[in-house]
Amino acid sequence: MVGFLEKYLEKNAKIRELPIYEKPNEEAVKHILNMNIPAKGRDPLVVGEELINDVFEHAMLGQHPRYYSFVFSAISPYSLAGSILTDIYNINAGGWELAPVVAALEERLVKWMGECAGYSGDNVGGVFMSGGYMANMSALVAARDSRLTPDEFPKARFYFSDQTHSSIAKGLRIIGFGESQMIKIPTDDEFKIRTDLLEEAILADIKAGKKPVAVVGNLGTTNAGCIDPLDKIGHIAKKYDLWFHIDGAYGGSILLSPIYRNLAKGIELSDSFSWDTHKWLMQTYSCSTLIVKDKIYLLNSFTEHPEYLADVNTGNHLSGWDLGPEMSGPNRAIKLWYTLQATGTDLLAEMIEYSFYNANLVKKELEKRPNWKIISKPCCGTVNFRYEPKGLSPEKIDKLTDNISKKNNRKRVCVYCNDRA
Ligand SMILES: Cc1ncc(COP(=O)(O)O)c(C=O)c1O
Repeated sequence: MVGFLEKYLEKNAKIRELPIYEKPNEEAVKHILNMNIPAKGRDPLVVGEELINDVFEHAMLGQHPRYYSFVFSAISPYSLAGSILTDIYNINAGGWELAPVVAALEERLVKWMGECAGYSGDNVGGVFMSGGYMANMSALVAARDSRLTPDEFPKARFYFSDQTHSSIAKGLRIIGFGESQMIKIPTDDEFKIRTDLLEEAILADIKAGKKPVAVVGNLGTTNAGCIDPLDKIGHIAKKYDLWFHIDGAYGGSILLSPIYRNLAKGIELSDSFSWDTHKWLMQTYSCSTLIVKDKIYLLNSFTEHPEYLADVNTGNHLSGWDLGPEMSGPNRAIKLWYTLQATGTDLLAEMIEYSFYNANLVKKELEKRPNWKIISKPCCGTVNFRYEPKGLSPEKIDKLTDNISKKNNRKRVCVYCNDRA
């Protein structure tokens, strides 16, 4: 194991000389698809070597210095250390009684994440889970159960902008709602939800006898890092008694920055938010958290009392399996705890601010050059742009953009700055 780790570190030291991503040839894929599962075990060292050379070598290098952290970032060595420890101890994170101190650590982190958003009081709660899809879907389950009786399901309506991540629509579909119940609100020229149209849509639905249930706001969209006017959405949600969920899978990490935190103003009005620290806070996969202002809603939706757990007594403490859809699994809070304790929030905030700085720098540099168009203003670590030389059709420009991006990823040095340092 130590040998494998050394190999990884050796490779990582030379990462600047590697392309960020080289699509594996079909042979590499075919090779794995044709491999047998042996009846008798093979030399474990050879198997490990094969995995390194034939499998891991062919993946995109998210920790590459020129990857520029689009939505997900390089990993913290402390997260890696926490991950390895978590795997070695292999603690089942599902129940309090299985590892009370580990569960307490998770509870403490969830509370702290809530405090970062301005949630306060004993009722704040939540649960770590595999990813933003699961966290957003679980929030929608809580929203549904808080506002509807089963016979009202067909009348339910959910609101979110046309820039919202597909996890919301998919989550709604999984929990039983159809396309016609998902009201996609247009966005303005900064890709932020039009709150005037949101309120109009809610009013029209009420008039038509429908039941508005929840509105989802974006704290960092996938396309452009945009942040919806969360305070305005919060007031509308309160006015019409809607559950207000915020998808902070990407942008939740700005809560750590004293400079940019104000962009999330209004998050304190929400009922729940998701925060994927495996995106912008350098955690290994997977590390997502759903945080709710009042955990009673998660308990109402997710608690079961099976026979085989009848003798489990956790006193006042809650188990992860009562707060979300998952049971057995790795404890995902430990690596985040390790990172936060070893790095401190000041340095992590600087890292977040540096991403904003980089996105702004790209914009400034492009503005000096002819034919580069800024598509979306920099926000979070994202700025959308493209090269639009005069006289090319939109289709040709699409193709050119695709080629520039692919070429940049394959390059062993940065095309613009000749960066080998
Ligand atoms: C804004 C946003 N929400 C949710 C998700 C889904 O997260 P995950 O891939 O961790 O399930 C993503 C993924 O990129 C995202 O960008």
